[in-house]
Amino acid sequence: MPGAIYAEGLVKTFGDVRALDGVDLEVPEGTVLGLLGPNGAGKTTTVRCLTTLLRPDSGRAVVAGLDVLKQPDAVRRSIGLSGQFAAVDEYLTGRENLQMVGQLYQMKAKAAKARADELLEQFNLADAADRTAKTYSGGMRRRLDLAAALVVSPPVMFMDEPTTGLDPRNRQQLWEVIKQLVSGGTTLLLTTQYLEEADHLAHDIAVVDHGRVIAQGTSDQLKARTGGERVEVVVHDREHIPAASALLDKYSLRGLGQGDTTVEEHMRKITTPVSGGAKLLAEIIRELDADGIEIDDIGLRRPTLDDVFLSLTGHVAEAKGEDDDGAQEAEGHSKGHRAGKEAAK
Ligand SMILES: Nc1ncnc2c1ncn2[C@@H]1O[C@H](COP(=O)(O)OP(=O)(O)OP(=O)(O)O)[C@@H](O)[C@H]1O
Ligand SMILES: [Mg+2]
Repeated sequence: MPGAIYAEGLVKTFGDVRALDGVDLEVPEGTVLGLLGPNGAGKTTTVRCLTTLLRPDSGRAVVAGLDVLKQPDAVRRSIGLSGQFAAVDEYLTGRENLQMVGQLYQMKAKAAKARADELLEQFNLADAADRTAKTYSGGMRRRLDLAAALVVSPPVMFMDEPTTGLDPRNRQQLWEVIKQLVSGGTTLLLTTQYLEEADHLAHDIAVVDHGRVIAQGTSDQLKARTGGERVEVVVHDREHIPAASALLDKYSLRGLGQGDTTVEEHMRKITTPVSGGAKLLAEIIRELDADGIEIDDIGLRRPTLDDVFLSLTGHVAEAKGEDDDGAQEAEGHSKGHRAGKEAAK
């Protein structure tokens, strides 16, 4: 029995670009999968294929028990989608936008209005409810788009970068909304540029690169895969970098696939993967001291999801549009899409 979202061997090419090169995914019912990957990895394309907006060249997908290629209309009725680019109607007010979605889903006018009010409140849009969306900032549009995706609570939700462009407070509130949603049994696939968000919300994380899932597991599993602890030393004098680096290299765990000692010159920081914890740290401090190497800082670090991402993809995760209301506006509408509005190509 496949999960609430299941994909096998999804391939999608755009001319020469192989956007998806055999994506396999499975999201058990009632869980959250975080899709992580560098820009252009294929996250949005995956979401669009799974939500019937785009027809894959090959592969198979089942969403909410329905075959995405054979039963696209039924799939659309069973899912909610909020896209990377907000798909609000800018000539309607916030409230009208939400009521319209409710009516599209055959809600009675009164129920649609009540639901709209509830969401406007939840997404901090009550004050702006009766202004046309045209006057909204980027972050407000984003919130309206998310609210629209939540008018009805479908069993399976897709959110493509739901919190890009939201300020920290609105992001936190959205996390709460998402948690509530999932505790009610909704299955969610979300893409994000914020590793912290995936760490916080997702049961499972799939890392996508070049159109393939290159790793999947819980945040802890992925961190364990990336290797254990590292020692980080910040030397006081730049001239001591080579000596300290040579010293740390002796303690380095090689063969982790992670490489050895790394130096960040400008920060005077030397990092090396180790095992041995606090005891080792004490030994390193003694040795640095004996060699007359003065340090500003030393610490034992466990891998973060950022480290995982970096070691798997060779890219640093880019957070874009943070706190930048309005930055999205240029892209806002031309690319807007939502299940049902756009036919599969
Ligand atoms: N309609 C299209 N026509 C041509 N190429 C496309 C199209 N859609 C996506 N691509 C290409 O497919 C690849 C994957 O794009 P996709 O939008 O899925 O990436 P992404 O992981 O969502 O990236 P981002 O983090 O920037 O949102 C990219 O190389 C992109 O340029
Ligand atoms: Mg994308």
